[in-house]
Amino acid sequence: MIRLEGVGKDFGDFTAVKELSLEIPEGKTCVMVGPSGCGKTTTMRMVNRLIEPTRGTVYINDEDFKKKKVEVLRRDIGYVIQEVGLFPHRTIAENISTTPKLAGWDDKKIKQRVDELLQLVELDPEENRNKFPRQLSGGQRQRVGLARAMAADPPVMLMDEPFAAVDPITRENLQNMFLRLQRKMKKTIIFVTHDINEAIKMGDQIAILKGGELVQADSPEELLANPKNQFVSDFIGEDRAIKILDLFSTDEVMWTEAPVLSRSNMEEETRNLIEKGEKAIPVIVEDEEGKKFWFDLDEIEGDVSINDVIRPLEITLEPTNSIKLAMARMLEHNNDAVLIKGDEGEEPGILTLKGIRNYVYRICESKPGEKVGI
Ligand SMILES: Nc1ncnc2c1ncn2[C@@H]1O[C@H](COP(=O)(O)OP(=O)(O)O)[C@@H](O)[C@H]1O
Ligand SMILES: [Mg+2]
Repeated sequence: MIRLEGVGKDFGDFTAVKELSLEIPEGKTCVMVGPSGCGKTTTMRMVNRLIEPTRGTVYINDEDFKKKKVEVLRRDIGYVIQEVGLFPHRTIAENISTTPKLAGWDDKKIKQRVDELLQLVELDPEENRNKFPRQLSGGQRQRVGLARAMAADPPVMLMDEPFAAVDPITRENLQNMFLRLQRKMKKTIIFVTHDINEAIKMGDQIAILKGGELVQADSPEELLANPKNQFVSDFIGEDRAIKILDLFSTDEVMWTEAPVLSRSNMEEETRNLIEKGEKAIPVIVEDEEGKKFWFDLDEIEGDVSINDVIRPLEITLEPTNSIKLAMARMLEHNNDAVLIKGDEGEEPGILTLKGIRNYVYRICESKPGEKVGI
């Protein structure tokens, strides 16, 4: 856990950071985001004391960081920066082993650790350990920078625009790789970016800074649902409802208990559902060949029969896919529902356009702190 308490920095007469208080729970990622010059880098560098705060202090696991020797503090904090800063005349293996060497590990342990780290950042150890930084692409160098920062397995990581210097596709790959890694490692991370999309994607918590002051710190969901003021709204952009689509996976919004009827017997089974008092629920129909179709129960009214409204359910997605992807597939195929694969032995779910619309709307309309269920 990292806790900043009233941390601030003056450079002469100029106040770069006023008095910032923020708590990052153990194993979570806090993304600091804001326009250029708002004090992100200064705040981050105060945490590992590359910059001495003018006021306030930082607690790492409830211990005042001033009580630790700077060398020890820095060993426990991995630091990744945009231009990586690899030593050009040292091999990848030598670069990665910088901290373990300082910590006095033996050669065998270091060699093992280097290979393990290269695998973690998804680089082939055999192929890369003896190369020099100039022989790698920008994205690969960034991976090595990450491996080096993680070498001594620090519980805390500071990452200052780590993926900003690479092309958009490489950036996306790095982000995804890092999210996979973090799912396993659960480090406590402060991640700086000026890109709100990256913040939403990477953060458990987003801290928006402006002119050296914290404007809002909240989960991505809460930030998008309830921007605190015009500055935050403007920073998020006009498409917050679309950004919300990125935050949720299909299994968080899908129906898991939609009735599955057989095509040959669907009229009768539908009448039974209506008599039981079911309303407005998606109903899946399966024919003899296993083909799936669907309709919404509240479409059956008056003269409307199932055959008037039933339509194919032709797209199947993974439970981990985003609802944005589900939406994209529906638009591409002019469908209004997708099937979501069940885990082994489990029934599939169904995600409808109506369900998504409803969910996003309720999030946009929710009050601060209010939880929206499906
Ligand atoms: N060593 C320094 N001396 C004077 N001013 C500085 C120094 N470092 C940063 N600043 C100023 O502090 C402000 C915040 O800088 P920084 O934290 O690097 O911003 P960010 O990372 O958000 O772009 C900027 O106006 C910058 O010019
Ligand atoms: Mg910066």
